[in-house]
Amino acid sequence: MAPPMADPPIPTTDIADARLSAAGEARIDWADGFMPVLRSIRERFAAERPLEGVRVGACLHVTAETANLVRTLIAGGAQTALCAANPLSTRDEVAAALATNHGAVVQARRGEGPDEYARHIGALVKSRPHITLDDGADLISTLHAAGADEGMLGSMEETTTGLVRLRSLDNLACPVLAVNDARTERTINDRFGTGQSAFDGILRATNLLLSGRTVVVLGYGWTGKGIALRARGAGAEVIVCEVDPLRALEARMEGFGVMPSLTAAERGDVFITVTGGRDVLSRDHFTRMKDGAVLANAGHFDVEIDLAALREVSAGAREVLPLVEQYDLGDGRRLNLLAKGRVVNLAAAEGHPAEVMDVSFALQALCVEYLAREGAGLPPGVQAVPDAIDREVARLKLASLGVEIDTLTTDQRAYLGVWAPDLAG
Ligand code: ADE
Repeated sequence: MAPPMADPPIPTTDIADARLSAAGEARIDWADGFMPVLRSIRERFAAERPLEGVRVGACLHVTAETANLVRTLIAGGAQTALCAANPLSTRDEVAAALATNHGAVVQARRGEGPDEYARHIGALVKSRPHITLDDGADLISTLHAAGADEGMLGSMEETTTGLVRLRSLDNLACPVLAVNDARTERTINDRFGTGQSAFDGILRATNLLLSGRTVVVLGYGWTGKGIALRARGAGAEVIVCEVDPLRALEARMEGFGVMPSLTAAERGDVFITVTGGRDVLSRDHFTRMKDGAVLANAGHFDVEIDLAALREVSAGAREVLPLVEQYDLGDGRRLNLLAKGRVVNLAAAEGHPAEVMDVSFALQALCVEYLAREGAGLPPGVQAVPDAIDREVARLKLASLGVEIDTLTTDQRAYLGVWAPDLAG
């Protein structure tokens, strides 16, 4: 049940072109075919209406998969408004279909500038959501800065980068579920989703052959692991650059080359940043790179490739393909930047496949239901998604795949119960 809050203004829709809605509907429907878990939750929500009276604000990538999440929340009774988590990932046709056919308020246009992006977030802030969903923390951090997170049932954050931002705020006034850290999310979304979709973006932009090339993966977190694995599967030589000794060791034990990024700069054909940090590829890297090197970022923000330094070391730049800007180093070498350094799987392709987002958004739908029911009694601040929700999503996904698993016998359960404290001691 939503807590009482004075009725705020319902934001109006601001999209590129409502006439695109038929194309958007086709995309939403296609994605829905690969999202059986979310669909089953939508059917239950429609029958039980657990979100009646709840205002949800979502700052997510405006894709067909997100549209199916929004439909699910609306089926549960929520009043839902959506804005973009990245100006280049918005599918205008999806925004049109969601607003025209599904009763969502949408504030998003592909390619919107920084002012428009901020205005769209501002409109959702004014609508005083009870629950927010973020991919990068822009909405909840704006609400927090305005003191408007007080009295909210809660919020959810989907990326590592967003969680880093939120954990640095010590006085959040509402609970924030760390969706990104849930086991289902890390395993399926980060590893298999980014692992595949980063290459989808790179290949759509360039049509390169990966086989025989040297791919340098900067960052070996869950997403880096997925990217390195897929690069190897495509026949590339893979080099991993890391600052964490354990992750570096893990990469080496997996058989990848591990070396400092300045050394890798001289060897790589394709560079993919996925650290969550900034200036991971900078001036000293660019000046060492080979002619024709490709630079792509798969991290959330466009700060991992130091674009100012790239401009400084270049004699000029030109767009050679729609998503490829070529920087001329003035000595015969050229570097190819993809999608302006923005998150390549969404800016140059369509993000994670629907099967992957089925897991992520089933998790988010169940978390919204949990916050609507329990959020008022939870402490403020970043906290884990309840394990029961994580397990339920994995169980539902396995069932949708027709996969059965074993259960512990009573004796096994008792044995593990006795054994576990010994382990801890
Ligand atoms: N993040 C990564 N891929 C996505 C997708 N397809 N839809 C929404 N958010 C995403």
